[in-house]
Amino acid sequence: MPLPSSPLVDRFGRTVNYVRLSITDRCDFRCVYCMSEKMVFLPRHEILTLEEIMALAEAFVALGVLKIRVTGGEPLVRKGALGLLEKIGRLSGLRELVITTNGAQLEEMAKDLKAAGVHRINISLDSLRSERFLKLTRVGELARVLKGIEAARVMGFDGLKLNSVILRERNQDEVVDLVRYAIDRGIDISFIEEMPLGLVDGRDRALDFVSSDEILEQLRPFFDLQPSTETTGGPSRYHQVLGSKTKVGFISPHSHNFCGSCNRVRVTAEGRLLLCLGNEHSVDLKPLLRRDPFDSEALQAAIRKAMDLKPQYHEFDLKAQPVIFRHMSATGG
Ligand code: GTP
Ligand code: 5AD
Ligand code: SF4
Repeated sequence: MPLPSSPLVDRFGRTVNYVRLSITDRCDFRCVYCMSEKMVFLPRHEILTLEEIMALAEAFVALGVLKIRVTGGEPLVRKGALGLLEKIGRLSGLRELVITTNGAQLEEMAKDLKAAGVHRINISLDSLRSERFLKLTRVGELARVLKGIEAARVMGFDGLKLNSVILRERNQDEVVDLVRYAIDRGIDISFIEEMPLGLVDGRDRALDFVSSDEILEQLRPFFDLQPSTETTGGPSRYHQVLGSKTKVGFISPHSHNFCGSCNRVRVTAEGRLLLCLGNEHSVDLKPLLRRDPFDSEALQAAIRKAMDLKPQYHEFDLKAQPVIFRHMSATGG
């Protein structure tokens, strides 16, 4: 493997060393904040092949990327996901291979994921009550996800973190229980402010909004929370729960903008390099990946050039109709 070239830097001096690769837009859940009831998924030929995704991972690592997060939709529903992870995990120069999952396949797959070299896993968990969990995910079975979390715990990953999107009338009353659940298992948890990506039916996102500060105040009477400077390289700002191993993170795209320290880009399942989750600036890398003969240097040059398109901020307005029509499942967050 050639030595990494100079790092990827955007117009605002931010170094990009974290890439999120979505390997499918499909998912076995239909979370109310992520998808509409009836989703149309991409036809197979539009989705990058596993080889094309691998070529992307190689190019990014050659450009100095240190952390790759594999996402979806739900990454573990893609056939061949494990083999791909194993190959990405072997890339020399990569410091961290991590995934974000809904946890539904973890009971069967945790062991193989560990063997494939996955370092950390983030698992979505918005409720500990099965009926409510079903309502939030439209189809998900809580017991299955909880078994998945246990299976992952046993494997001793470098980190396990829960992700909870908190919505006022749906699960705000569970934040204390969710933190207790995390503490009892010695794992971390991040609370996420919902972002207006794609149309979701039957809900008013502005009415459902709960700020990170409100959650923090809700937690304070129950836990000794100490602000921490620790970072996992993502947007979470953490508080340590004193007397426990657990960190509580807050991902606050609305209330505490974190764009100034943005270190990441993402690639959609169909090969679109998105420079920001909250904007449409993008470059279609698929033609380069499908060019015959394949030319990794041309791919790397296109990625480097794309850094000039990275916007300074995301702008989200929960009260307006979404201006971003892609759903979160198209980008993996
Ligand atoms: P760590 O490596 O554990 O820090 O994970 P992460 O927070 O980077 O990844 P994860 O997949 O767990 O994402 C958690 C939430 O953060 C999701 O809702 C993502 O959509 C959101 N998120 C991640 N990166 C960005 C970003 O650049 N901008 C915005 N607005 N949200 C982001
Ligand atoms: N806003 C905020 N977070 C979201 N996620 C999915 N859709 C949204 C949204 N609209 C979260 C999921 C998962 C992570 C990748 O993104 O819960 O944990
Ligand atoms: Fe699937 Fe994750 Fe979207 Fe839920 S948030 S529908 S689990 S991709």
